[in-house]
Amino acid sequence: MKTPVQFRLNGEEVAAFADSGANLLDVLRESVGDLSVKGGCWQGTCGTCTVLIDGAPRLSCITLAESCAGKSIETVAGLRRGADLHPLQSAFMERFAAQCGYCTPGMLMAAKALLDRNPSPSREEVVDAICGNICRCTGYEPIIAAVLDAARGDSRRRA
Ligand code: FES
Ligand code: FES
Repeated sequence: MKTPVQFRLNGEEVAAFADSGANLLDVLRESVGDLSVKGGCWQGTCGTCTVLIDGAPRLSCITLAESCAGKSIETVAGLRRGADLHPLQSAFMERFAAQCGYCTPGMLMAAKALLDRNPSPSREEVVDAICGNICRCTGYEPIIAAVLDAARGDSRRRA
């Protein structure tokens, strides 16, 4: 049986219908239509489904949709402002920090959570922030460099 769940998604009020026990990842993709959120393992181990819930990075595949009622959720779809990319998105492009791109939504949201609470992180703090996000392509170095660039404001397409 589906139950209504209301939350804020990227600043907009959303009413979704979720099966009892449904995870937030499936509800965002299938009920709300936010395909910027990706699923990989659906077991809480890869990090690609990371979204921000009330500002904190959470794995949407193991988050009950019903538990998000009244909360604020951020996804990659809400990062850019009009034609302007978020500095993290620009830095990822400039550093070639996305290859297949599968990890990228989760990496961006984990990095955003970090920069929102700590605008000038050390390299170690960046590594710690993305340690739950698996990337099989890049070797992580371009991603770490991109997050540090965004923190320094080095990205050319700043939002
Ligand atoms: Fe959620 Fe892998 S899909 S951690
Ligand atoms: Fe392919 Fe990270 S770019 S998994």
